[in-house]
Amino acid sequence: MLIDTHAHLNHPQFANDWKDALKRAKSVGVEVVINVGYDIPSSERAVAQCSDAPSDGSAVFASIAVHPHEAKNWGEEAAKTLALLARDPSVIAVGEIGLDFHYDFSPRQDQFRAFEEQLDLAWRLNFPVILHIREAHPEALAVVKNFGKPLQGVAHCFAGTWDEAKAWLDLGFYIGITGIVTFEKKAGNIREVAAKVPLERLLIETDAPYLAPVPHRGKRNEPAFLPIIAEFVARLKGIPVEQLVEATWQNANALFGLQARLTRNFSSRERSNKTENSDAA
Ligand code: NI
Repeated sequence: MLIDTHAHLNHPQFANDWKDALKRAKSVGVEVVINVGYDIPSSERAVAQCSDAPSDGSAVFASIAVHPHEAKNWGEEAAKTLALLARDPSVIAVGEIGLDFHYDFSPRQDQFRAFEEQLDLAWRLNFPVILHIREAHPEALAVVKNFGKPLQGVAHCFAGTWDEAKAWLDLGFYIGITGIVTFEKKAGNIREVAAKVPLERLLIETDAPYLAPVPHRGKRNEPAFLPIIAEFVARLKGIPVEQLVEATWQNANALFGLQARLTRNFSSRERSNKTENSDAA
């Protein structure tokens, strides 16, 4: 069972075919997709899509948050909206949150504030966090250490050094590897990290619609391309792809508590079918 732990089906690039994208993903073995919000509207859309997902596609769950790019819009209103949204049973994480000093689309002090306050939200809700960290690993590690309360999460789309990866692993975090690992010129560190991360702490993700793996590079990415990443990382680690798929499934399950939710989902689907049947009778 493959799980894409990071995709944005809520992105405008999927406006017309996100349901078909879920069906294509399911047809290549991607059983679950985590649909990740990056601002308030995309978080609301991520949640709405979960209840509107096709039954013959991958199961879909939502993660909600305000991305560091959008941190200038973070405030009490956003915090309240996220707390309300989090009550929906499809929501399983807070993210993506973090620091992005590569683009600096929001002032850094706003990025720090949005990051810290959303870590607190995740802690209060008992949710894992999905971290977006770009050129800010030392600063983000300091924020998480200073936060002081226990948190679980994943350093998503990891692009730092092996030493930075090790620092996240020491804090108990998982490392998320995307299709960048397949890029010939840009993959340097990431290949080393993917090869060295212990199998029990690795997650694989597409980050669709961004970062399509080779040979689709430059096109829109989608969850159905996840097997390409799985095969590539398995080769780097020198293990059978089945072993990597099994391990990353177990890891995602442990981090996001999916097994219980999938069972609940299926039994509530059965229940609603029964209600429909009895209504029809
Ligand atoms: Ni993303």
